[in-house]
Amino acid sequence: MMMKPPGPKPALLLPLLLVLLHSPSILAKDPAQTAATVCAACHGVDGNSTDPAYPKLAGMNQEYLLRQLRAFASGKRRDEAMTGIIAGIDVADFPALAAYYGKQKRKPGVVRDAGLAAQGKRLYEDGNTESGVPACAGCHQPDGEGNARFPLLAGQHQAYILKQMADYRSGRRATDPLMTAVSKRLTTEETKALAEYIAGL
Ligand code: HEC
Ligand code: HEC
Repeated sequence: MMMKPPGPKPALLLPLLLVLLHSPSILAKDPAQTAATVCAACHGVDGNSTDPAYPKLAGMNQEYLLRQLRAFASGKRRDEAMTGIIAGIDVADFPALAAYYGKQKRKPGVVRDAGLAAQGKRLYEDGNTESGVPACAGCHQPDGEGNARFPLLAGQHQAYILKQMADYRSGRRATDPLMTAVSKRLTTEETKALAEYIAGL
């Protein structure tokens, strides 16, 4: 298990944030204010969350971030915390929020198991021809920096990567048929190795 840094418990935080969101008098309308008062609680002020349950948003392509905000709003992508939060945000603020996180600098992650990461590196760069897993590097780039089409992965929390692969596989995240296919071809061990390698990119 991963060590959780001390901080507010999400289970307690979420109801409070939802109340805040539905009280327009308390919450400022400026998207930068929304980022600082609402999103920062989970994603960190600069988009480099410290709690591995919440993804780092810093440095991600703005178009990608915007697509994901819309996917949460439409229900194509579902998550206990984000689905509730996004319902309280004005869609007109989505582009400014995406731009805010796109401009932040991504901080590196922490590799805990170098052996596992080495296994992940092979898969990331070459895929697995036997099971039909394509090389992640082909789309997400060898350094994991991604581009306008393929999201930045480098430095992301292991726990978040593992949850996304599970959500693509189960259909809870139905934002990309290709990633759904990729997630279904990976074994649990391979997925863990990839997450460990990605954290250190
Ligand atoms: C209570 C905690 C919480 C708050 C507050 C929160 N988020 Fe999230 N956010 C999450 C979680 C958890 C996920 C991962 C969801 C999943 O597993 O699909 C996420 C995912 C995201 C993603 C997708 C990232 C990716 O790599 O695909 C974006 C974009 C995002 N949040 C933006 C925001 C914005 C903008 C706000 C403020 C308006 C916000 N979040 C507030 C918990 C939160
Ligand atoms: C053919 C291109 C392609 C290949 C190959 C590919 N991906 Fe992706 N990946 C994408 C696209 C496009 C998205 C964004 C999809 C969406 O909007 O949900 C994505 C999203 C992801 C995400 C979610 C990122 C986030 O911030 O939520 C993860 C994790 C991921 N890919 C991991 C991998 C891994 C690991 C591999 C290799 C086994 C891989 N991908 C191979 C195209 C690709």
